[in-house]
Amino acid sequence: MTDLKEIIAKELESKEIGLTFDEIYKLIEIPPQDDMGDFSFPCFSLAKLMRKNPALIAKDLASEIKLDEFAGVKSINAYVNFFVDRNYLAKNVIGEILDKKESYGRSDEGKGKKVVIEFSSVNIAKPFHIGHIRSTVIGDALRNIHEFLSYDVLATNYIGDYGTQFGTMIAAYRLWGDKEAINKDPINELLKLYVRYNNESNENPSMKEDARAAFKALEDGEEDAVSLWEWFKEISLKEFEKVYGMLDIKFDNYDGESFHSKYMQGVLDELREKDLLVESDGALIVDLKKYDLTPAILVKSNGSSAYITRDVATAIYRKKTYDFDKNLYVVATQQNLHFKQLRKILELMGYDFYKDCLHIPFGMVSLKDQTMSTRKGQVVFLEDVLTKAIDKTKEIMEERSSLIENIDETAKIVGIGAVKFNELYNNRIKDYVFDWDELLNFDGETGPYVQYTYARAKSVLRKAGYKEESDLDFTRINSDVEFTLIKSLEAFKDVIIKSREKYEPSLITRQVSEIAKNFNKFYNQSQIMVDDKDLKKQRLALTYASAQVIKIGLNLLGIKTVEKM
Ligand code: ARG
Repeated sequence: MTDLKEIIAKELESKEIGLTFDEIYKLIEIPPQDDMGDFSFPCFSLAKLMRKNPALIAKDLASEIKLDEFAGVKSINAYVNFFVDRNYLAKNVIGEILDKKESYGRSDEGKGKKVVIEFSSVNIAKPFHIGHIRSTVIGDALRNIHEFLSYDVLATNYIGDYGTQFGTMIAAYRLWGDKEAINKDPINELLKLYVRYNNESNENPSMKEDARAAFKALEDGEEDAVSLWEWFKEISLKEFEKVYGMLDIKFDNYDGESFHSKYMQGVLDELREKDLLVESDGALIVDLKKYDLTPAILVKSNGSSAYITRDVATAIYRKKTYDFDKNLYVVATQQNLHFKQLRKILELMGYDFYKDCLHIPFGMVSLKDQTMSTRKGQVVFLEDVLTKAIDKTKEIMEERSSLIENIDETAKIVGIGAVKFNELYNNRIKDYVFDWDELLNFDGETGPYVQYTYARAKSVLRKAGYKEESDLDFTRINSDVEFTLIKSLEAFKDVIIKSREKYEPSLITRQVSEIAKNFNKFYNQSQIMVDDKDLKKQRLALTYASAQVIKIGLNLLGIKTVEKM
């Protein structure tokens, strides 16, 4: 369907109002109320150019404009308001969805563009806790959205498998490690060791020294340290794979901190050559005072390497290896400073691609009455959260009806979907509180509600024996609820583009909720299975189109649908 804004902008351009097509296009708004039409064009900026009262300009323009796609053009104060022809919209929107099916909303804007998306990035020997869920789910949605728009995506999990904390792990294992216990319950046991070591070393500074020395040994490739570290890594990854399996999220690679650490020396040499490295209290730093940033420590005073050094090496490696157009880091806001430093260092090194390295930050998740800090050992494992979501969903479904055939599989899809949907519902930058009641509410703006709506639409189609018909016209579905639903289906395409531009999956989540709400209103107010065959066919086609778009939206969020629920 042709873009209606484009039609309006072209028409206004032909009226020679002194603005270019692009300028006009940008000014066109969606009015806040339905009775003000579907689009409006404000005339304030024309007043100066035309030396005329803007309300008068609007009035004159409205009387001059005649467009087939619009049933009416009216001026309201200084605005020209456009009322879409409902039949035109129905025919074009539903027609397009029937034609494109699961490709409705796809575009090739990303053709030939490579995007590296780094997300999840969990830490070895540490729990995959609920705090990691945001990066994992937001990153996966961003990957789906980019792929839908034809970008060539590389999904990478920059696992935290290097750094001083591994010195702590190794030192702790040497003191109290129990191989058997660890093999049985790897993450919990490793976590216990880590917590105990941290607690005891607070009173005993020489333990801190031992931990640092153990990391140094690891960096120097000392066999015993390396093999312990490899073992920690292997058993941790196995645990993580379980969670990724439940979430149905895959990565193209797990090139983490240790993988890139081999390029650190090159970075240090380059920094020195470019006169960027300074000594400060025994450490090597890049001074960023001029840019209002704290200094970045590249080599610690004890000679061990630092987190940021690996990130500089990683960014350069990614550019060389993938020649990305964008390199996205889906990482919590707590690391804002780190990514500012990283970009500045790359810029100072003369790498123009620093502009394409973008930090996509997100706010914190907290549980009611609980904080989440690995250091103190108070952790909520994501695996437990997911299992609980599935169990609770099953309970609710059993209460509601016992007709579902494969309740376990359904509860899994709906339960995991609920967690993902909840994650992706709010603007990503906002902190939020994880609340079970909210998440699993079948009537709120939740995953289960949307999935239920989809299943309801599919059940209507099944019962009606819906078959696709080629030459339907859509002149009969023009009530207010039908029109509102069709408009929300039309807006969906634009929402995908915007969610990519803003790296904001929540725009899709909200739109899918909106469509579900509009569909339910339509379902409740317009009888679908009427005797009038023609009308029935048209309403079924709208039902099909609604289900199709909800499914596309959920899939972009990484959420599966069920046909019955
Ligand atoms: N592993 C880190 C953490 O859990 C996140 C890694 C962020 N990515 C990066 N390139 N530094 O905090």
